[in-house]
Amino acid sequence: MEYYSKHNLPTPKEPHCPVYHCLPNQKAIVTGASSGIGKEVAIMLAKAGADVCVNYSKSEHKASEVAEEINLRTDCNAFTFKADVSKEDEVLSMFNAAQKRFGHIDIVVCNAGIQRDAPLVDMSVAQFDEVIGINLRGQFLCSREAVRIFKKQGIIENTSCSAGKILSIASVHDIIPWAGHVNYAASKGGVAMLIKSIAQEVAQYRIRANIISPGAIRTPINIQTWQNHEAYEELMKLIPYKRIGEPREVGRCAVWLASDQSDYINGATVYIDGGMTLYPGFETGG
Ligand code: BGC
Repeated sequence: MEYYSKHNLPTPKEPHCPVYHCLPNQKAIVTGASSGIGKEVAIMLAKAGADVCVNYSKSEHKASEVAEEINLRTDCNAFTFKADVSKEDEVLSMFNAAQKRFGHIDIVVCNAGIQRDAPLVDMSVAQFDEVIGINLRGQFLCSREAVRIFKKQGIIENTSCSAGKILSIASVHDIIPWAGHVNYAASKGGVAMLIKSIAQEVAQYRIRANIISPGAIRTPINIQTWQNHEAYEELMKLIPYKRIGEPREVGRCAVWLASDQSDYINGATVYIDGGMTLYPGFETGG
């Protein structure tokens, strides 16, 4: 890519690391799985052995493509379910459907998220509420249902050494303030404390809840920053590792955090951000 030759930097390489079959007999729900990070998380979980409920709220066609890819290219099964995660009744229906279909649920990935950006003075209550509704209330509703089910199920023989795993997809903006995006940053900061508090509350039942906080990842949500040369230049000033992240990198982390390989990790946040949270301005200043 032009940016790398121009700056005499190594061109990003695809890592050579297969996904291990570390989720045998597990069943997962991934919210917002029709595109972006959610899509790759769903596919990676299936590659690692989990059956997946592919949640979407609008893009039925894209969600079906994700389920089809899982059904055709992995040994696992997937089905799609339409639910707006900010609506309690729709979340309940989704968990019911997944339980009926799968018999048990072991992994819930709260990923659905949106941006509705505006300077504070122009931000409408509708823009604020929509973002908080999907990004924060949605994660509350889904993790509450997950815990209700995990507690009832307990630890299932030959499945996992924990009673269930919640993975929350937050953002670097759970600690980096973001001017012009106050609704989004508030929702992600809220999510971080929601999940850590849940982790503390339900650890005694051997339920784990962890957070993945991505930085700039090549998804539709930030297409303006990676499709435009000047915007990419500006973005790279914020990323010490000097490349954008790929959705499958978040997928790989999700597989590991959902698996028994990370069984003693609870209430943790993993930043997948090429160092965006390292105060990049201090590379040369300070
Ligand atoms: C946002 C992206 C942004 C990234 C880094 C993410 O949470 O959704 O739009 O590029 O944070 O600022």
